[in-house]
Amino acid sequence: MATPHIEVNDKNLIASTVLMPGDPLRAEYIANTYLTDVVKINNVRNMFGFTGYYKGKKVTVMGSGMGMPSIGIYSYELFDVYGVENIIRIGSCGAYSPKIKIYDVIIATSAFSESTYAKVAYGYEENILNANSYLNQRLNDSAKKLGFPVYNEIIHSSDVFYRNCGNVFHDVRDKYGCIAVEMESFALFANARYLHKKAACILTVSDSLVTHEATSSEERQKSFNRMMEIALDAAI
Ligand code: HPA
Repeated sequence: MATPHIEVNDKNLIASTVLMPGDPLRAEYIANTYLTDVVKINNVRNMFGFTGYYKGKKVTVMGSGMGMPSIGIYSYELFDVYGVENIIRIGSCGAYSPKIKIYDVIIATSAFSESTYAKVAYGYEENILNANSYLNQRLNDSAKKLGFPVYNEIIHSSDVFYRNCGNVFHDVRDKYGCIAVEMESFALFANARYLHKKAACILTVSDSLVTHEATSSEERQKSFNRMMEIALDAAI
C-alpha cells in the first residue's frame, strides 16, 4: 500500500477529503493551528502530511509541492491508492487582472493550461479543465457562512514561473479570461476527471503581475487563514 512517495500503510490514516497546500510547512501550520488529535502520516521527501480532526470530522492536510508534475504524483496516489474522494488545493496565485487585489480569495471554476499533462497522461485534448461543481458549491457556501468575499473565476495553470518569451500573461488573460496564475490545478483536475474523483482549488493572491505588489512570507501566512477556514469548513 505504501507508494514511492507516501509511506502510509493503512488507508484509514488518510481522510476521504484532503486539503493540499503547495508547501509542506503550510500543511504543518494548518494541522497545528486548526486540527486536533493530529498524526503525522508522511515524511518522504519532507512532503509532510497530517491527519487530524476539524470540529470532530477527520481531515488530512498534505503538501503537494510546486508545479503540475509534483501535484500530479501526490494527488494520483491519494485518489488511486488511498481511496481519497475529494482534494481541495489551497494555494497562492499571482493576479493577472487589475480588479484582483493582494489577499483576495479566488475559487477556480476551471483552469486553462498550455501544459501537456492531461494529453500525455490521459489523451485529453482540452486545454481547459473544470473544478468539481459540488466542491465549489461547498466552498462558496462556507465562504458565505464565514462572511469572506470570494471570486469565482477561470485561472491559468502555468508550466513555468519565470518566463521571457512573449507576453503570455496578456495573451492568456485576454484570450481565456484568466484572472490569476498558479501552477498546479490543471493536473489536479485532470487526475480527478480520469479517476472519477472530485477536485477543487481555492487561492489567495500573493502577488500581482499588474501592480507588482508582493507580500512577505509572514504576511502571506497570516492572510492564508481566511482561505484555510473556508476550505476546512467545506471539508467537513
Ligand atoms: N506565477 C505562477 N504561480 C504563482 C504566482 C505567479 O506569479 N504567484 C503565486 N503562484
